[in-house]
Amino acid sequence: MRQSSELFFVSSNNHKFTEAQRILSNLGLEISLFKTTLEEIQSNSLSEIAKRKALDAYSKVQKPVIIEDDGLFIDSLDGFPGPYSSYVYDTIGNKGIMSLLEKIELRTAKFVAIIAYCNGDDDVQLFESSILGKISLSIEDGGWGYDPIFIPDGESKTYANVSDKDKFSHRSASLKKFSDWFMHTQLDSGL
Ligand code: IMP
Repeated sequence: MRQSSELFFVSSNNHKFTEAQRILSNLGLEISLFKTTLEEIQSNSLSEIAKRKALDAYSKVQKPVIIEDDGLFIDSLDGFPGPYSSYVYDTIGNKGIMSLLEKIELRTAKFVAIIAYCNGDDDVQLFESSILGKISLSIEDGGWGYDPIFIPDGESKTYANVSDKDKFSHRSASLKKFSDWFMHTQLDSGL
């Protein structure tokens, strides 16, 4: 049964929202975009960043919200850019990552997504998943963000060119955890 609720995905990133909306809709949950830029603290912890973003989002929307925080962790760079992925993308970008990995054979990496839900109190619920993969040897065309350089395990192409990113992406795994919890706790309790 399709369930709907007044649930806002708070982000300035249309790509993230489009994917999240499609994934959650397929799981029977509808969301709306509240487009705004959220406070992104600099921290070593993705969870801390996600928590603060969720509280900031709730303070702006005053209704149940989810936010998403992601990080690309590259093994040979000791997990860099990790929690700094957004800043690194906006500064050195995919070309910069390619330069950092020039002549480096070990290209394994993981993409992590944390979904954070907040409904007013200080109690933020976190749902985390990751997908293993590697950094491509060249920047592919298409996609957005790090899509053109991240090849998920089991695929030969990057996120930008795989046939069904939603099936296995870091985002879909975290959203699935969130929707299972949300459907069974929040909606059942009549929220
Ligand atoms: P954020 O801090 O959650 O915005 O994400 C960190 C960085 O990862 C940003 O530059 C995003 O654009 C990028 N990113 C997050 N998810 C994806 C994705 O699915 N594909 C490509 N880049 C992504």
